[in-house]
Amino acid sequence: MEKLYEGKAKVMYPGPERGVVRVYFKDDATAFNGQKRAQIPGKGVVNNQVSAALFAYLEAHGVPTHFIRLLSEREMLVKQVEIVPLEVIVRNRAAGSFSRRYGVEEGRVLPHPLVEFSLKNDALGDPLIYDGAALALGLLTGPELSRIKELALKVNALLKEYFAQRHLELIDFKLEFGRLPTDEGRAIVLADEISPDTMRLWEMGTGEKMDKDRFRRDLGGVEEAYQEVLRRVLQAQPST
Ligand code: TMP
Ligand code: ASP
Repeated sequence: MEKLYEGKAKVMYPGPERGVVRVYFKDDATAFNGQKRAQIPGKGVVNNQVSAALFAYLEAHGVPTHFIRLLSEREMLVKQVEIVPLEVIVRNRAAGSFSRRYGVEEGRVLPHPLVEFSLKNDALGDPLIYDGAALALGLLTGPELSRIKELALKVNALLKEYFAQRHLELIDFKLEFGRLPTDEGRAIVLADEISPDTMRLWEMGTGEKMDKDRFRRDLGGVEEAYQEVLRRVLQAQPST
């Protein structure tokens, strides 16, 4: 079947109708802008199902997303959107590039959640970008920027609570947003994926890493951590 697009972790195919896309989640893992590569068996299955569950939960709590429904273990159906070329990162504790950039220990609690942007551009290494530059480059409009920040913080509040109920602490995560054609114009919706590839999740109490940092940092137990996150996401929770 003809591909619309193939990325590092997913392949997009035309959906059954116009405006709909089928997303296939691969087991391929990359880190450090594609310099480190491997397969994590079962990762695609986990990321597809975790993303589906989180998109459905967020939709139910008033966050518009591109998600339509699961198609199979590794595939979901989503609305076709025009991706805003920004990686929107929300941080609750210092970790990763934030800790390196500012020289602060990993795990320091930030006084309030921080929203950061990176330009989605592999050739440039996804550089950090500030609001003014994103607007000056015409990547999005002022109202779109405000909406994205508002949605990112709402997603953070909802997901922090969701994972806390599963004994996991949401340290930080990356979101991507897209524009959806609507009758009234173009609406911003949450797109891409939300999975252990795109979040940092630490076991509450011990701080054990339950996400892609196990792969990035060669900590071992990568498959097991992904499977455990899926298990907890699929766990029935009366309040979510
Ligand atoms: P960072 O600390 O390396 O900037 O990562 C912040 C969060 O964003 C972390 O949860 C991992 C996620 N992330 C991605 O999803 N894709 C990426 O390419 C990078 C660098 C980070
Ligand atoms: N997925 C990204 C890459 O391959 C980086 C990461 O998640 O660490 O560059």
